[in-house]
Amino acid sequence: MLSTLLVAVFSTSLGVHAQTFTNPVIYADFADNDIFLGPDGVYYYSASSMHYSPGAPILQSWDLVNWQLIGHSVPSLDFGDDYNNQSAYNLGTWASTMRYRESSDTWYWIGCANFWTTYVYTAPEATGPWSQSANFQPCFYDCGLLIDDDDTLYVAYGSENVSVAQLSSDGLEVVTTQQVFTYPPECTSIEGNRMYKVNGTYYILDDCPNDGITLVWKSADPFGPYEYKILNDNVASPVPNTGPPVQGSLVETSEGDWYFMSFSWNYPLGRVPVLAPITWGEDGFPTLMTVDGAWGESYPYPLPEHPLPSWSWTGTDSFTGDTFSPHWQWNQNPDTERFTLNNPGLTLHTATVTTDLYAARNTLTHRPYGARPYGIVELNIAHMADGDIAGLAALKDSSAWIGVVLDGPDNYHIAVAHNLTMESAYGSTLSNGTIVEIADIPESQETIWFKLSMDAAAAGSHEAIFSYSLDGEEFVDLGGFYTLTTDYLFFVGYRFGIFNFATSALGGFVDVVSFTSGESTT
Ligand SMILES: *[C@@H]1O[C@H](CO)[C@@H](O)[C@H](O)[C@H]1NC(C)=O
Ligand SMILES: *[C@@H]1O[C@H](CO)[C@@H](O)[C@H](O)[C@H]1NC(C)=O
Ligand SMILES: *[C@@H]1O[C@H](CO)[C@@H](O)[C@H](O)[C@H]1NC(C)=O
Ligand SMILES: *[C@@H]1O[C@H](CO)[C@@H](O)[C@H](O)[C@H]1NC(C)=O
Ligand SMILES: *[C@@H]1O[C@H](CO)[C@@H](O)[C@H](O)[C@H]1NC(C)=O
Repeated sequence: MLSTLLVAVFSTSLGVHAQTFTNPVIYADFADNDIFLGPDGVYYYSASSMHYSPGAPILQSWDLVNWQLIGHSVPSLDFGDDYNNQSAYNLGTWASTMRYRESSDTWYWIGCANFWTTYVYTAPEATGPWSQSANFQPCFYDCGLLIDDDDTLYVAYGSENVSVAQLSSDGLEVVTTQQVFTYPPECTSIEGNRMYKVNGTYYILDDCPNDGITLVWKSADPFGPYEYKILNDNVASPVPNTGPPVQGSLVETSEGDWYFMSFSWNYPLGRVPVLAPITWGEDGFPTLMTVDGAWGESYPYPLPEHPLPSWSWTGTDSFTGDTFSPHWQWNQNPDTERFTLNNPGLTLHTATVTTDLYAARNTLTHRPYGARPYGIVELNIAHMADGDIAGLAALKDSSAWIGVVLDGPDNYHIAVAHNLTMESAYGSTLSNGTIVEIADIPESQETIWFKLSMDAAAAGSHEAIFSYSLDGEEFVDLGGFYTLTTDYLFFVGYRFGIFNFATSALGGFVDVVSFTSGESTT
């Protein structure tokens, strides 16, 4: 017994330093992280997902490097009717905050959904059930919650000017709020606020997105006065072709070490988290640990390595349960009358009559994983109605799709459309795109496979290729290359989008037999 224990202790302390991890720690779009140590000794990570529903994904990790998705803080975007009629592009959950509060054994999520109203969601467990507990003004733009040693709740928020609010003891109302500082001379704006208390001192972490700068502010009092130091001044990113990582959160490990989790703007894929250690100086400010002056591509593991199943990110989902895995989000709130799960599997009824994918409800989305992700959907198309279009999209503000088009009784064909481009967010600009190629399929064909492969890293070619298969084995490319865009009108990166909409009348449906998410290494 004693020798087993000694070996365990010895190998653990060696293991921490022997293993190294590689940035990004998750090769997928999980921006605006807020990370903290939960009551169960597990680390939690809350992220933005804008207009995708459910919103505000929650991830879990034992070592800050390997993460798995466990749910969402916002089960439905109950922020107004715009979220139910495809008019909330780029609104929703962004730069929000999440914490566990011991005194009431409650999990809190706080975020400003739309630039004017702040919402509070609470839950008894990280996995839920989460519900909306309050909404109020002002908008807590890019907010960070601090639960003080005496259980008082403070929130730092703002752009240009940063304020600190004190909340009521239940956390559901604002008691007082006060501007504490504005952006410093090195900067042209400020955002991404997080608030901490370390050894009796209050800290606000935030960043100047246009200047490549991360700031740390400290004060003896939550309401200031604050003094600042620069934590990161244009330190090169570990992700090729991306700018300096500046926004994120700080976390102390159970072993007393500190880390900064930021993210790189790795479009077309989206914003991917990158981790680096920090150390604290005699002056009470932290320093970023760089490698040859840059954010390291790798560092020693912060904690003993705790791998998680690879199906966390890639693998096949056959929709066998009666709920969706947390990897799925709808493009805004779904029409819940127009899909069924476990009946058996997933059935998508057409939910909207439109010619515009952006205006169609009930597009189901999945994040691509890796620099060269692919997705394959298997559809049963036997019950499509005249005028319906169903398929697989590369979904962002510039989109493309491959789909079955039924434009006459039993007149099925496959089409690829490119250039469905939204001119502005916050509303759907009708955009049918351009059909670039059409293929025939046999009238008797009931099952069809669509594949989308993307070269999605900032340093990649940005080419997306669509293909189809009539047997699930042999895939035929259609429509040539579509060039993915790197802008971020939506902030979220490209998603796989499984869609089914009607252009003439509702009534048809498709069965989504399975979806496979993969990462190509060749
Ligand atoms: C969506 O709903 C909002 C709120 O009711 C309304 O103002 C807007 O015009 C609607 N948009 C569309 C495209 O129907
Ligand atoms: C920021 O604060 C300054 C000084 O108090 C004020 O003049 C300015 O209007 C504020 N800006 C915003 C956007 O509130
Ligand atoms: C906080 O104080 C403890 C005890 O003095 C010390 O060991 C630790 O390094 C301090 N932490 C920071 C971040 O300064
Ligand atoms: C799509 O847009 C690109 C860029 O504007 C253009 O070069 C290309 O020809 C367009 N494709 C189609 C099919 O219209
Ligand atoms: C989209 O297609 C529909 C039906 O063919 C047509 O009426 C509409 O004008 C098109 N919209 C655009 C923006 O091209």
